[in-house]
Amino acid sequence: MKIGFIGAGKVGTAMGVYLKEKNYNILGYYSRTYESAQNAAALTNSNASIKLESLVKNSDLLFITTNDDEISNICNRLLDEGLINEEKIVVHMSGADSSKILEKLKKKGCYIYSLHPLQSFADIKSAVKDLQHTVFSLEGDKEKIKVIEDILKTTGNKYFIIQTEQKALYHVAACVVSNYLVSLLDYGLSIFETIGIDKDKGYKALYPLIQGSIENIKNLGTSKALTGPIARGDVNTIEKHIEALKNINPQWLDMYKTLGFATIEVAQKEKLKNLEKIDKLKKIMKGCNYE
Ligand SMILES: NC(=O)c1ccc[n+]([C@@H]2O[C@H](COP(=O)([O-])OP(=O)(O)OC[C@H]3O[C@@H](n4cnc5c(N)ncnc54)[C@H](OP(=O)(O)O)[C@@H]3O)[C@@H](O)[C@H]2O)c1
Repeated sequence: MKIGFIGAGKVGTAMGVYLKEKNYNILGYYSRTYESAQNAAALTNSNASIKLESLVKNSDLLFITTNDDEISNICNRLLDEGLINEEKIVVHMSGADSSKILEKLKKKGCYIYSLHPLQSFADIKSAVKDLQHTVFSLEGDKEKIKVIEDILKTTGNKYFIIQTEQKALYHVAACVVSNYLVSLLDYGLSIFETIGIDKDKGYKALYPLIQGSIENIKNLGTSKALTGPIARGDVNTIEKHIEALKNINPQWLDMYKTLGFATIEVAQKEKLKNLEKIDKLKKIMKGCNYE
């Protein structure tokens, strides 16, 4: 099976290197710039195509690894320029879109998939290393899905299959966990800054706490991992927090209350069963967007 890549950026190049290491036959790359295609081809001992046509014609499996906005353009180009006329497996790797974005290719006999690595890749070298421990989600046509599953089994990557219509919600979850975690840390570090602890120092000081929480979640699950004043039902402590935040930044107070409400709900599952305390805590968080 010959594998071609359209889009020689971080993910396309790293995926090619990764698959090559596992003895897959990488045919080559086409990219917006020939330079990127050449770089990826050199790393995978494959060919850089100046023309899209030759890469598409000779590939059995095509990865579209352009930036998300370009995927449908590539799809249109493949059709408008008559580049696809026979059965191919076409896969994109975006988390945001489902395989539906490739739907038009089905009329040419293609099988379409989205294969998403649950990982954040900053550069090619680290991406190749990270890929080994990455879990993938996969969705698309039933007929040839085994081909992609076999690749993941060969590379030793864990994966799960989702329904095409679930892709948007799947991506919401991934973004909340990855991106909102960053915003959450920025929120805490900004509060530190108001008392003279800069973000760098603050991050280093908080890192063991963050790491401990992640470890606890890993070992116990979210409900049992929760610690702190809400889990203990320390109503007075929460009142002091609200008082301290009131004078600093109203937006931070809103955020505190919204996350506080969400935290009460987590606490109720395992740690906090005292209904009177739950009621008092919910009243304190009143007016938040989460209610
Ligand atoms: N990076 C991540 O953390 C990550 C994680 C999971 C999934 N993904 C997904 O992986 C895909 C690729 O992301 P990336 O991070 O690798 O992006 P990237 O590094 O920006 O690479 C995108 C590549 O697409 C090429 N390209 C753009 N328009 C093109 C066109 N019309 N024809 C051919 N090539 C074109 C660019 O080529 P030139 O270099 O030649 O200009 C660029 O190298 C996206 O769907 C993204 O959502 C990324």
